[in-house]
Formats: sequence, C-alpha cells, structure tokens
Amino acid sequence: MSHHPTRLHAMSVSMDDIVRLSKQRGFIFPSAEIYGGFRSTYDYGPLGVLMLRNVKEAWWRSNVQLRHDVVGLDAAILSSPKIWEASGHLKNFTDPLVDCRNCKERWRADHLEADPADGKIHCPNCGSTDLTEARAFNLMFKTYAGPVEDDANVAYLRPETAQGHFVNFLNVLQTSRKRPPFGIAQIGKSFRNEITPGNFVFRTREFEQMEMEFFVPPADAPSWHQYWIDTRRQWYVDLGIPEEMLRLRPHEADELSHYSAGTTDIEFDFPWGWGELEGIANRTDYDLKAHAEASGERLEYFDQSTGEHYVPYVIEPAAGATRAMMAFLIAAYQTDTVGGESRTVLRLHPRLAAYQAAVLPLSRKETLIPMANEVLDLLQPHMMVDYDETQSIGRRYRRQDEIGTPLCVTVDFDSLEDHAVTIRDRDTTEQKRVAIADVVTEVKARLGL
Ligand code: GAP
Repeated sequence: MSHHPTRLHAMSVSMDDIVRLSKQRGFIFPSAEIYGGFRSTYDYGPLGVLMLRNVKEAWWRSNVQLRHDVVGLDAAILSSPKIWEASGHLKNFTDPLVDCRNCKERWRADHLEADPADGKIHCPNCGSTDLTEARAFNLMFKTYAGPVEDDANVAYLRPETAQGHFVNFLNVLQTSRKRPPFGIAQIGKSFRNEITPGNFVFRTREFEQMEMEFFVPPADAPSWHQYWIDTRRQWYVDLGIPEEMLRLRPHEADELSHYSAGTTDIEFDFPWGWGELEGIANRTDYDLKAHAEASGERLEYFDQSTGEHYVPYVIEPAAGATRAMMAFLIAAYQTDTVGGESRTVLRLHPRLAAYQAAVLPLSRKETLIPMANEVLDLLQPHMMVDYDETQSIGRRYRRQDEIGTPLCVTVDFDSLEDHAVTIRDRDTTEQKRVAIADVVTEVKARLGL
C-alpha cells in the first residue's frame, strides 16, 4: 500500500480539523476538561496513547534497535540541582519577561514590538505603556524533594532529558563497552514553565522528548553533525511526511542555545507556518567539561590506540515526541471522495497508525461472532487490532479511515462457507478475498511490518 500522502488537500487542513478529530476520536483531550481545562495541558486518549507510543517506538527502532553504536537510557526526572547549576540552565535557561503594571499581565519582551504610531511598546492586553523593564524568568519548574520546603531541598523537574546522558557518561562507557563514535538515546517527559504555550500540543509545559547525545572525536564533529541532520530529516520522510512539508533552518548566531556551537532545526509546515520539529546541535565538549569541573570526575575517553585522554564532542538530535505526533497527524489528514461520498482519511504510515487493522463482522448476528473472534485472535499477537460490530459496514469503514487504520478485515456470511475474509485497503478502498489461514501473512505483508 502507499504510505506517502500526496498532500492533495492538505492545504485545507486547519488546526480546528486536527483538534476536533483528536477530541472526537480519542487522540488528544484537553486535560481536566470537567474543571474547565488546565493551562495548555493535554491527555492522550485511547487512540492517542497508541499513536504516541508508535512515534516513540519508531524513533527507538531507527536510533537504537537498527544500530550497533547507540545504547539506551532512562534517567530520573527529579535529580540533583547541581546538574542544572553545572549545565548552565539555572543561569541561562530563561526568557526575558515584562510585567504590565496596569493589568498585571506578563509578556515575553522579545515578542513585543513598538507601535509605529508612537514608537512605544503597548501591553497587548490593555494597551497600557506602563511596562516594567525586562527580567530574566527561569523556565524550570521548581519543587522540593522531601517534606521540608527550604533551600536545601530545592529540586527541579528536568527541562530536557539531556543531562541524564552526560551525568551517566562514565557509567555507560564502562558498562556498554562502546567507544566514540557512540550515542546514548533517551525518551521521556520534560517540563518547562513556558510563558506562551499554545498551538495545541506544539508548545506545552509538560511534553515528551526523544533525544540522543552522540559522542565523537572532536575533529569528526562537523561531519557527524551533517550526518545526523540528514538522517533525522529522512526519518520523517520515511514515516510519510512529504518532503515539501519539511525544511532545514540553521540557527543565527544570536539564537543559539548557551551550549551550542551550531544548531540546525528541522522545520515542519504547520497550518500557521513553519515551526521547529527537532533541533540538531553541536554541543561541543561544553556539557562534559562543565560536569567534570563541577563534580571533580574525569569525564573523558581514553583512546588506547593513541594513548590519549580526550573529552568527546557531542552531536545532539533532539526531537519532541508529542510535537512530532501532531505533525504526523497534520501531514496525514486528507479529505477525498469515495463512490460519490466525501470522507476524511488519515493516511498514516502503518507503523504510526493507532491500529494496524480492524476486524469487522458484517453483522452482529451470532453466527459471525465466533469467526470474527478467531480472526482477531490470529492478528492480535502481531499488531494492535480494533474490533467493531456496531452500525453499518460503510460507517465502520469511514470511522476506520478517519482514525487511519490501514486495513479492515471483514467477516461475512460467505466466510462461514469459504473460510475467507475480505481485506479492505484504507488508501485505495480496494477489497480482496483472503483465506483465514493466510490472513496474518497477507496483512503483515501489506503493512510492510
Ligand atoms: N536538549 C536540547 C533541547 O531540549 P530544544 O530545541 O529546546 O532542545 C528539543 O527541544 C525539541 O523538544 C524541540 O524541537 C521540540 O520538538 C520539543 N519541545 C521543546 N519545547 C517544547 C514544548 N514546550 N512543548 C512541546 N515540545 C517541545
């Protein structure tokens, strides 16, 4: 089957379409909705949790499973505040903020522009020009580890999964028997007290990252940087994002993070314009050196062939899992016409779709149910399979198209005679009769899994 959306109708996809589908079909719900929601936080529903797991699994597969030079890690979210002091986050991980003295709203200073009419900066909320000077606002969430809320117990929720990789550098080096060039991969939650969250799950205060720190001999850093830019871009293409919806954007010198000697973003054509999906940074030896100095440990690699100790450089491809999931949804969303009827179809890559297949007994008649269950039992060990016996078969096909299920397997009254089922393709809507004995082989082959 074709995994590559042709983007025929993608221009008409709006964020409203994505938000509505997410809510109606159970991908993403606003969090605490019965209490009126909570500050740009979201919950992943029955389909969302499947798809998000698939995005993370696809990342892990290509970055860990299919390589010999990358190992995994799952570090603590709460850890020593010394990490954030040494990494520079306590000092530098800030946004400049101004307060409006009139209405008390707070704004990102770098997002406000002077009014051409009077050359003054006005509060976007109340119009007042009575604004404070910009102050640095740290984006890390602060809390206390233990029952006593004093300075000795301050802890931070990590604002990036990275740092876990650096503080475990020696542990991983010693236990994995890897040597540069090698990488440490990690997927997990990160937290930032963003001033302006928004655009659905594009920018939230709690989100998931998929990050790798790839340690290389310093002289090889530029070529590995380019390698990871190209490899990471191709990952999105291979999973169905059309090339024209992606672009690479090298950072200007004045927007580089405090640790970076060069960053290139992979950007996606969101409905509101180009936005960052992932950044690939050359972090040099900044982090290992900073932690070596602060901890007194030698965070180095000893190269036996040259007899030299050196601090590796780090290339960091850092992606957002939740943000990537939204981009995959947007790229896959299409409307077309089938037999004179319009439909919404999510042309998701089979690896990302919430369900890879759905088993649909043609009717709820008791005679069909045991056979439908038999087919379900055959498929379930290999993939996520939906099962639906309500409503007309046409409406059930539409529903599966809308949630992106690549294949529907229909059990009908002939199945009782010929021990075969009909497999219907989401993208072409073509149907094919297949013996139940062959159904697993056929479905797996068609999915390309
Ligand atoms: N360790 C490097 C780092 O964290 P970053 O560019 O700040 O770099 C990497 O974050 C990726 O994490 C971003 O490209 C984005 O996909 C995701 N991300 C960052 N902040 C986010 C937020 N507030 N909400 C959702 N995703 C976010």
